[in-house]
Amino acid sequence: MKILGIETSCDDTSLGLYDTGSGVLAHLTANQLIHDKYGGVVPEIASRQHVRNLLPIYETLLADTGTDPGEIDGIGVSNGPGLVGSLLVGVGFAKALAVGLDKPLVGVHHIEAHILSNELEGVPLKSPALVLVVSGGHTALYRVEKVGRYDLLGNTRDDAAGECFDKIAKLLGLGYPGGPFLEAVSREGNPHAVEFPRAMMTQGNFDFSFSGLKTAVRLHVESPGFDPSQVTDTAASAQEAIVDALVRKTLSCARHHNIPHVYLAGGVAANGVLRARLAEACAQADMTYHAPLLEYCTDNGAMVAGAASRHLATGRDDRLTLDVFARGAVTSWA
Ligand code: KG4
Ligand code: ZN
Repeated sequence: MKILGIETSCDDTSLGLYDTGSGVLAHLTANQLIHDKYGGVVPEIASRQHVRNLLPIYETLLADTGTDPGEIDGIGVSNGPGLVGSLLVGVGFAKALAVGLDKPLVGVHHIEAHILSNELEGVPLKSPALVLVVSGGHTALYRVEKVGRYDLLGNTRDDAAGECFDKIAKLLGLGYPGGPFLEAVSREGNPHAVEFPRAMMTQGNFDFSFSGLKTAVRLHVESPGFDPSQVTDTAASAQEAIVDALVRKTLSCARHHNIPHVYLAGGVAANGVLRARLAEACAQADMTYHAPLLEYCTDNGAMVAGAASRHLATGRDDRLTLDVFARGAVTSWA
């Protein structure tokens, strides 16, 4: 089966084509760099950009892969969580295609798509798995008993890790989205120059909190002695605090719940320091570790298509009933 995946939950417009036999055929993303000048995603602008981007991306994807629309066997679309206006554009497009092509359509939970992006290289998720989902909107630990069975073991109480990267990057005058810029600048800095706080590190607590770190960085930047030469050390120290909290929580959660297989997912999973540190910690603890290929970490249509294949296989078709939702954890369906 060839499955088209559609992703418009935030500011990336992305489509992917997935073949249930051979895996990802292609995926194509338009990043909305227009939000740069506002320092964050403007929902109304994001929706309008999705309207502009979707059809050209769809046509290019089909042309690049030599696919006739009639060869698409099913469609998956992220229908939440995310920006409602953005989601509605993707879902509207998906419904029109499904009705026009007379093919089934399934809504895909955006976080489930991130979790299952670990399977896009062709190796099924080992279970039980602990997946750290870290993105601009989410920071959570899920136990995955099998595909379709998810238990939320930890969640952020305030900001998501990606949001923290972005806000700190903005404070330091770096580019947007901040994560990759902060990582790049951090390579030149000393990660131990400033001891920023790690919140909620008590035993047996697997929730996260990043708003205190954001405030600590702001107070540091606004302090009288701060000058621009300290930006790299501040960036590296902030990244260190985020990565340290993520790795320590993940490992203690895996140990506490006796889960031997650790996975990373979401946009922040593209961070090289986080990938290396989690890999090292898992190796030391005798746990297996896997992170998606970089191209499948930030929002992409391929992960939506891959996750949709699991739902389509159950015979589901949401063509006429699909709605969107702004927030909520992944719930079990299998
Ligand atoms: O998964 P994603 O594309 O969108 C959401 O579902 O939120 O994640 C986007 C987030 C942004 O906050 C971005 O700054 C962050 O992922 N990100 C990174 C890196 N690349 C993307 N954060 C840290 N280091 C990176 N290399
Ligand atoms: Zn995402």
